[in-house]
Amino acid sequence: MEKIKTVLITGASSGIGRSLSLRYLKQGATVGICGRRTEALEEIRTQFPNAHPIVFDMTNKAEAKKCIERFVSSVGSLDLAILNAGNHKPTDARDFDLESYISIMETNYFGTLNCLDAVIPAMKKQGRGTIAIVGSVAGYIGLPQAGAYCASKAALMRLTETLCVELEPLNIDVKLISPGFVKTPLTDKNDFDMPLLMDVKKASDRIINGITQNRFETAFPRRLAWGLKTLAILPKFVFLHIAKKMLR
Ligand SMILES: NC(=O)c1ccc[n+]([C@@H]2O[C@H](COP(=O)([O-])OP(=O)(O)OC[C@H]3O[C@@H](n4cnc5c(N)ncnc54)[C@H](OP(=O)(O)O)[C@@H]3O)[C@@H](O)[C@H]2O)c1
Repeated sequence: MEKIKTVLITGASSGIGRSLSLRYLKQGATVGICGRRTEALEEIRTQFPNAHPIVFDMTNKAEAKKCIERFVSSVGSLDLAILNAGNHKPTDARDFDLESYISIMETNYFGTLNCLDAVIPAMKKQGRGTIAIVGSVAGYIGLPQAGAYCASKAALMRLTETLCVELEPLNIDVKLISPGFVKTPLTDKNDFDMPLLMDVKKASDRIINGITQNRFETAFPRRLAWGLKTLAILPKFVFLHIAKKMLR
């Protein structure tokens, strides 16, 4: 991969996206840092003049398209887009809350599509680019008390697979990032023990390394990713037996 000069990162105001943004900014890249919280993005800009805060709610398709198009035309090209923004909220069908299911899908899946609506045409026009989509190992299976989140990440995974195939002829490289538990404001909300919880800096190192490699998926930590991948290929009755034991 050639040196990355221009990057767009969604969800740059905290957690994984913020950490990735700081890494690319330190390397000297021009980075479009996206999110809704202006203050958090401006705080990054005070340290790095090469940071371009882009404030929009990615569930608003017109706003997402306009803001990303404006950034690309102001910097002239887009080498890499990391579509990372997402949300998680525990859900439980025993206390079914439709709005939670809808809002998680709206952000994680449709929000990503809204960004792709500007990113794909920009990369198609320049005849190259890399898109990295942040899914989750939670997308491999349906985990108890995380049905909405797992469904949104499974949808993203299937989408990313097809994008990889369909966009290759346009010289657009598409990658899937599947993190396990990473310590961020998103997981700080969890009230259970998170196996193999990873530091955000280590996670962003893995992601950046994965983006430069010639492979479709970067999943980490490996032990957790392979454990969940194994559950996904077990006969369903075996998997459901195990999943029922996880229900709190
Ligand atoms: N942490 C983990 O263990 C873990 C594991 C697997 C996958 N992931 C995935 O990694 C990604 C980043 O998660 P994180 O842990 O870094 O969480 P985080 O610290 O809560 O960051 C989430 C980011 O998404 C942005 N965002 C959320 N809703 C948005 C919206 N409607 N419009 C625009 N931006 C929005 C937030 O920005 P604003 O609030 O400023 O809008 C924030 O910057 C997510 O997709 C998450 O599902 C995380």
